Amino acid sequence: MREGRARRRRVTSSLIESRQNEKLRLVRKLLSARKHREETGLFAAEGEDLVEAALAAGIEPVELLVAGENVRPELLGEVSTLGHAPRVVAVFRRDDLPTGAREVTLALWEVGDPGNVGTLLRTADAFGAAVALSPGCADPVGPRALRASAGAIFRVPLIEWDEAPGRRVALVAHGGKPLAGLDLEPPLTLLLGSERQGLPQSLVTDCYLATIPLPGDAESLNVAAAGAIALYELSRRSSS
Ligand SMILES: C[S@@+](CC[C@H](N)C(=O)[O-])C[C@H]1O[C@@H](n2cnc3c(N)ncnc32)[C@H](O)[C@@H]1O
Repeated sequence: MREGRARRRRVTSSLIESRQNEKLRLVRKLLSARKHREETGLFAAEGEDLVEAALAAGIEPVELLVAGENVRPELLGEVSTLGHAPRVVAVFRRDDLPTGAREVTLALWEVGDPGNVGTLLRTADAFGAAVALSPGCADPVGPRALRASAGAIFRVPLIEWDEAPGRRVALVAHGGKPLAGLDLEPPLTLLLGSERQGLPQSLVTDCYLATIPLPGDAESLNVAAAGAIALYELSRRSSS
C-alpha cells in the first residue's frame, strides 16, 4: 500500500509503551465522551484516510500517534473504536475546522444519528454546501459521524444555526410544494428535520415548504437521502 502523508510525517516523540500514557488517555476520552470533546475543544480522528483529509485541507493535528513509530500498535488498537487497529490516530482542535458562508446551507434540526450527520456533511461537501447544526444534533466530530463524513468535516464550513444565510426552505415529508417547482435563487438554507419528529411547526411557519414527491409506498425518506436529493436538484438546476 502507498504510504500516506500521515505516516510519512516524522514523529519525534519517544515510543509510547504504557496504556496509562497521557496522550493515549486523552485519545480514549475524546473517542468515548462528547462531554470531554466539548470541554477540551478537541477531537480524535482514527485512520489514515481521515488524517490525510485533514492534512490535505491544511489542518494540523495537535497530537499525531503513528503505530510502530511513536506508539505500540496494540495500544493504538486498544483505544480505537474501529474494528481493527488503526495505523494513525490524530487529535485536532475543533476551532481549526472551516467556517464561513456558502450559497447553499443544509440546516439540520436535531438530527440525532451520527451516521446521518456524517453522511450529510459528505453530501454537502460533494455539492459545495455548508452545514448548520441545531442543538441536539449528533456530534459531528464524534467517531461515527467522522467516519461517515469520509473527511468532509475538514472541508465543509460548519456554521451556527442562527447564522445560516438566505431564504429558508423547510424540507417536509408531506404538504410542501414539489421540490422541482420551487423557484428560488441562492443564497438558500434547506432545513431538514429529525429522524422521528421531523421539523417543529414553530420553525416551519416562516419557511417556504418543499416536498420530494414519493410515488412509492414509503411514508418518508431518510433525512440524509432527502438532503442528497435536494442538493442534487439545486445543482442540476444551476448547471442546466
Ligand atoms: C425521516 S423524516 C421525518 C419523518 C417525520 N415523521 C415527519 O413526518 O416529518 C426526516 C426528515 O427528512 C426530510 N424528508 C423526508 N422525506 C422527505 C420528503 N419526501 N420530502 C422532503 N423532505 C423529506 C424532512 O426534512 C424530514 O424532517
